[in-house]
Amino acid sequence: MKLWLLIASFGMLSSASFNSYAELNGQNIALNCFNCHNPKPAANSAIPSLTGYSQQRLQQALLDFKYDKTNATLMPRIAKAYSDAEISAVAAYLSQQ
Ligand code: HEC
Repeated sequence: MKLWLLIASFGMLSSASFNSYAELNGQNIALNCFNCHNPKPAANSAIPSLTGYSQQRLQQALLDFKYDKTNATLMPRIAKAYSDAEISAVAAYLSQQ
């Protein structure tokens, strides 16, 4: 019985640390953004490419979406799914693209 508990809690610990690594990987997070934000959008695309922004500008835009400081359709929901640390990581990654 005790052995099963040990195995179960080890499994929970190791998956938790794996997840927190994945969440703070800016590139992994950015892959979700590229579903809508094509890095090379068509000329008539309503959704902008995320290239050419500074880290600070991206981070502030995402925080404004997350904390409802900007009116928008989709982004407030998406930004709420990320911690402030994840927002910082994805902004850092995207600003270098
Ligand atoms: C489901 C589609 C979708 C996904 C996924 C998505 N976005 Fe957006 N994004 C939009 C839309 C639509 C807008 C226009 C604002 C609005 O209506 O929400 C936008 C606007 C933005 C803007 C503002 C651009 C500007 O110049 O005003 C930024 C910055 C942004 N998104 C960043 C991101 C980041 C970073 C991610 C990934 C974490 C992401 N988006 C994921 C659809 C999406």
